[in-house]
Amino acid sequence: MSESVEDLLRQAKQDLAEAGDLTTLEGIRVRYLGKKGWFTQRLKELGQLSPQERPAVGKRLNEAREEFERCLEERRQILRQEQLERRLREEVLDVTLPGRSRGEGGLHPVSLTLHRIEKLFINVGFQVAQGPEIEDDYHNFEALNIPPLHPARAMHDTFYIDHHTLLRTHTSPVQIRVMEKGNPPFKVIAPGRVYRCDSDLTHTPMFHQVEGFLVDEGVSFADLRGILDEFLRAFFEQDVKVRFRPSYFPFTEPSAEVDIACMMCQGEGCRTCGQGGWLEVMGCGMIHPKVFEAVGIDPQRFTGFAFGLGVERLAMLRYGIDDLRLFFENDLRFLEQFH
Ligand code: FA5
Ligand code: MG
Repeated sequence: MSESVEDLLRQAKQDLAEAGDLTTLEGIRVRYLGKKGWFTQRLKELGQLSPQERPAVGKRLNEAREEFERCLEERRQILRQEQLERRLREEVLDVTLPGRSRGEGGLHPVSLTLHRIEKLFINVGFQVAQGPEIEDDYHNFEALNIPPLHPARAMHDTFYIDHHTLLRTHTSPVQIRVMEKGNPPFKVIAPGRVYRCDSDLTHTPMFHQVEGFLVDEGVSFADLRGILDEFLRAFFEQDVKVRFRPSYFPFTEPSAEVDIACMMCQGEGCRTCGQGGWLEVMGCGMIHPKVFEAVGIDPQRFTGFAFGLGVERLAMLRYGIDDLRLFFENDLRFLEQFH
């Protein structure tokens, strides 16, 4: 044996002491105890010694190997502990730090207003219906007693797609679609988008209406007034000044428009209400006999009222917004105020 067991053990212990991590330590274990490791080799070579030498050297070698194994295990424990402490130090988690918050979204003020309107009418027994936004001339105009070349078409600033297809200019065609299919009584609202070639402080090219109609025997204008008064009081949660103004729609007779005292100027007159002191929020009236005829309902037996309200106008008044176009710019600083 070239090296003495003592020298080797000293060297091995020094290697262990210098090992800085578990991977290096494993390398050292293989170097001394592996198949070709120093202790393994020496134990194999015992056979070459004389029978007299063999027991003493073998005993010494085994003791040295056991001591090495003990030191190795000791060192492993120390390195494991160090590794654990290092991880605990490096991966420290301060649970008192504020969390990374996710910005909370909110519904658009027009959606909030729509939901509010729907809820109020559903509460008193109205059903919700829907119709297409791409509509035909018949449902948007003709069946509503607005024949071709009727002057009322000029009030609508229609976006045409072709001669008989258009973007619906109001939700009234849903009256026709619902009444064509069913039989009275009807008690229906129809919320949705409508389109007009129109844009200023109180008009946008796309806006929302909620159509409402009630058809039964003996329905009168007094029922219409009663429902709308109740609705407006519930919607604004305060006594607002309401004005029913006689008006004209080809599909209702008599017809009226409903104005609310402008909330920007308390009716004094300002740019929002065009100095008039009032803001028009809906059209309404008693359903015209011609409309009943178009959908096969007997106008001698049934009467009904209908209304179409402007959702953005109601939102404007409720939230005190003086320019309707703000609803469609999607400026977050504006939208965040409606959470
Ligand atoms: C109509 O559209 C009728 N269909 C309403 C109706 C239904 C009458 C049933 C009788 C029976 P008008 O064009 O006035 O009517 O529009 C109704 C409401 O929509 C207006 O009172 C207003 O509040 C709103 N409105 C109209 N044009 C615009 C626009 N460009 N932008 C925003 N709101 C609008
Ligand atoms: Mg009008």
